[in-house]
Amino acid sequence: VVTAEPLVAAYGEPARAALAAAGWSATLMPVPDGESSKTLAQAGQLYGACLAAELDRGSTLFAVGGGVIGDLTGFVAGTYMRGIDLVQVPTTLLSQVDASVGGKTAVDLPQGKNLVGVFHQPRKVVIDTATLGTLPLRDLRAGMAEIVKHAAIADAEMFAALEAHPLEEWLGAPEALQRLVARNCQIKAEVVVADPREKGVRAWLNYGHTVGHAMEAAAGHWDLRHGEAVAYGMVAEALLAVSLGLAAPEVAQRQAELLAALGLAQGPLQVDLDRARQALWHDKKIERGTLKLPLVPALGQCVVRQDVPVSELVTALEQACGCGDV
Ligand SMILES: NC(=O)c1ccc[n+]([C@@H]2O[C@H](COP(=O)([O-])OP(=O)(O)OC[C@H]3O[C@@H](n4cnc5c(N)ncnc54)[C@H](O)[C@@H]3O)[C@@H](O)[C@H]2O)c1
Ligand SMILES: [Zn+2]
Repeated sequence: VVTAEPLVAAYGEPARAALAAAGWSATLMPVPDGESSKTLAQAGQLYGACLAAELDRGSTLFAVGGGVIGDLTGFVAGTYMRGIDLVQVPTTLLSQVDASVGGKTAVDLPQGKNLVGVFHQPRKVVIDTATLGTLPLRDLRAGMAEIVKHAAIADAEMFAALEAHPLEEWLGAPEALQRLVARNCQIKAEVVVADPREKGVRAWLNYGHTVGHAMEAAAGHWDLRHGEAVAYGMVAEALLAVSLGLAAPEVAQRQAELLAALGLAQGPLQVDLDRARQALWHDKKIERGTLKLPLVPALGQCVVRQDVPVSELVTALEQACGCGDV
């Protein structure tokens, strides 16, 4: 059972004890908290712990924690002895609705995030939304960004439900929250099943992420959660869709209002704009000044545009960073 050190008492040890009670020989493997643990060095430590615990090709790694633990544990499970079984037990909203489903695993390099990884599908994803009761509001909001993304690209009805019910209402209604999380897993799973290795429709899931990743790269020491960056990214990409004549202004407007109601993409963002522009220009997907970008023409729909001028995306990024109002 791999978990983050602060989660040992509340979730890691109870998970280990439950497995032991069910007859498994289970060992707890705590790792230091935070994105800085998504490294090859930390993976190396875990391989050592796996050997010390005498794990073999019939063993299973359980990832109990947020997306960092899921990505790191998934990477180790996908490579230790050429791959052993993995069970994801996500405990943040972001990992419950996004990171735990789909089989992408990774560690970071000093040069950038998620640069080394494998596709390794979990045998099972076990989600207990009661764990969200201890999650700080800021992480809940960041997780909501990926929910808004799923609604924007694939489910207009869910988008309307999010507009109608504020975050506190979802948190206070356990069954509605479970259905919301399950619906998000279903959307992600459907897209991934159609395109497991990101050759086509899986690109939809990158909505808001081209600009979002550029903002993360430019945030430097200013701490910016992934979901927070994606929220700004969606604002920018919605503005772009309007300026390209692909979407009505109302689409960008409704999305900006929903994000603001969730405490996301509000107010000027402190990023180094030059670095953000540079990060966009260095995006892997750029060819001859244009790039491939998933855009939302109407809420609940997504199209991949092949020829988006990077210069226009830069303008949209500046607008989204500047004020967040549309
Ligand atoms: N593989 C994928 O498809 C995919 C998709 C999206 C994001 N990611 C990755 O996920 C990571 C971000 O994940 P995250 O947002 O879950 O961050 P995280 O894993 O760092 O968790 C955020 C914080 O919440 C704490 N925490 C976790 N569960 C808790 C709980 N129930 N109560 C209280 N505290 C809790 C963690 O210890 C941590 O301090 C990034 O590395 C990102 O690259 C992967
Ligand atoms: Zn994301």
